[in-house]
Amino acid sequence: MNRSSFDIQPLHRFGGANTSIRRPREIACFSYDDERRFSLGDSSMAFYYTPTLPADLNRGYDTFQKLNDAPDEHLDALLDTIAAHEKTTEKKCEVDIVTWRGMMTKILTAPFNNNDGFEMNATFFQGTIFIEENNEYKNLQKELQRKRGSPPGMAPQELMMYWGYKFENLAVLRKPWDESTREEIERREHDIVNNAAQYCSVVRTGIGNTRMVLGGEVDAIWDCKPSQEGKPINWVELKTSAQIRNDRDMLKYERKLLKFWAQSFLLGVPKIIVGFRDQNGICHSLEELDTASIPGKVQSVGKRTWDGNICINFAGAFLDWLKQTIHREGTWRIRKQEKSSVIEVFQVEEQGHGDILSPAFKAWRTAT
Ligand code: A3P
Ligand code: MG
Ligand code: MG
Repeated sequence: MNRSSFDIQPLHRFGGANTSIRRPREIACFSYDDERRFSLGDSSMAFYYTPTLPADLNRGYDTFQKLNDAPDEHLDALLDTIAAHEKTTEKKCEVDIVTWRGMMTKILTAPFNNNDGFEMNATFFQGTIFIEENNEYKNLQKELQRKRGSPPGMAPQELMMYWGYKFENLAVLRKPWDESTREEIERREHDIVNNAAQYCSVVRTGIGNTRMVLGGEVDAIWDCKPSQEGKPINWVELKTSAQIRNDRDMLKYERKLLKFWAQSFLLGVPKIIVGFRDQNGICHSLEELDTASIPGKVQSVGKRTWDGNICINFAGAFLDWLKQTIHREGTWRIRKQEKSSVIEVFQVEEQGHGDILSPAFKAWRTAT
């Protein structure tokens, strides 16, 4: 069996001159509604509107409509959106990699995230590597995390997860504010929280020599989409985080910023709004972060727990190597074990594309 590996360490290989990056541009979008029904377009796009503070993020936990995310959704929604885009533009989307933003976040943060592992499935089709999350691995990790439970003194994991969704709910409107009534704005805190609905942006972007199409969820828009295509969009990422009370908390927060930054950087989300909450889930304050300025702040006033340039240079080099490694038909596994600094890639099947590519996408691409 074909097996290759890429060493993340030593990191000094990735210092120095920057790898070029392309500004992400949205090429298409899709939405899931409250019942997780897919549609092309922006029907689930949400509009940022400052939440009223203090806000009790526990409210409505008993009525939470939680999406069952155990089933494998593969790349289906992303591929449907790409195929629709290709039909409209009458042009094939020619890139090196197609994947979810979440997979690229794992790669980009790998140099400073030794503890976590990941497993992805990949296949090569018509010049492009398609990468999905390995759903079995994801479910297993969730199960292990559930069994471990929360550290003593902390709220149960499920409740803490709800706080994140509740905060998102309290900070958005379903319609632009000038089309919303006062009642609709005030009613937000009584809304039932449902995490099935999502707006997903599909962007074209690039790191170094690698061109990519990434799909990922965007929480909200600050104003509205610009009428001219390709112009930057004022997206907003919403996050909650524990209040910072001491140096230890500050260090934890700085480490968290790596994930916030990577996730938003990849889709071109310029602003992150963090809601700081206490141990009981009451949000007391907000902080607005400019995504682009986060790595600089970590270097200048922070503890330098991570370096954004190293992340980008590493990702550029790793993706070059991945293109050399996955260049023919079959299915592959991309894996980093917990506490390991090696990314392994090995072929799982010599032929076909497993379930990574939907029959509809393959049919569309082979007919054209
Ligand atoms: P917080 O980020 O405020 O904790 P996202 O921020 O990516 O839009 O995700 C929204 C919320 O989903 C998160 O809110 C958190 O509650 C939950 N969530 C996302 N990824 C998670 C993960 N890997 N584990 C647990 N909860 C997660
Ligand atoms: Mg989100
Ligand atoms: Mg969010």
